[in-house]
Amino acid sequence: MQDKKILVVYFSKADENYNVGEIEVGNTELLAEEIIKRTGADEFKIEPKAPYPKGYQETVDLATEEKASDARPEYLNEIDIEKYDTIFLGYPIWWSDLPMIVYTFLDNHDFSNKTVIPFNTHEGSGNAGTYEDLKVELPESNVIGDGFNMTGMSARTEEGIKKLNDWLSSLGF
Ligand SMILES: Cc1cc2nc3c(=O)[nH]c(=O)nc-3n(C[C@H](O)[C@H](O)[C@H](O)COP(=O)(O)O)c2cc1C
Repeated sequence: MQDKKILVVYFSKADENYNVGEIEVGNTELLAEEIIKRTGADEFKIEPKAPYPKGYQETVDLATEEKASDARPEYLNEIDIEKYDTIFLGYPIWWSDLPMIVYTFLDNHDFSNKTVIPFNTHEGSGNAGTYEDLKVELPESNVIGDGFNMTGMSARTEEGIKKLNDWLSSLGF
């Protein structure tokens, strides 16, 4: 797969987070950075137009509202994904789902005929069924069912990064 044009798209939130305290770089971002380093992929970080609150509880409250209203929060910048064959899609689990801002990105792009490789961090929910949800959301894409997930805490360890690399190897990267 090394000759394919690869993009890593991800959303990740720094500042105060569950179990890990105040962090400067989000858990999912650490995985994204490693995938970029390993594969030479291009990168697009989904940056909210209205930044999420720094505090964990405030973020939870806002995310609750966003999910209840099926919101599509806006993000800054944009990327044309046409030239990419393979797209890694990274996100934290929020309320057993993708953060709504990731749905905004999905809505704004045509993923047909692309291979989509999900990866995520969480604090107990695993992938929370999101890999199957993505297959439904992106019916014209080849969504890889064996994505990668680990707790946010693990993503911050050498052992976690090694597991990520083992998974990338298993996919041929
Ligand atoms: C709003 C919100 C909702 C969350 N909901 C869940 C959840 O349903 N299940 C779970 O396992 N973890 C949940 N978490 C924990 C995050 O998935 C976890 O901390 C993740 O590693 C954060 O990644 P990030 O630093 O890349 O944003 C939630 C965190 C937040 C902020």
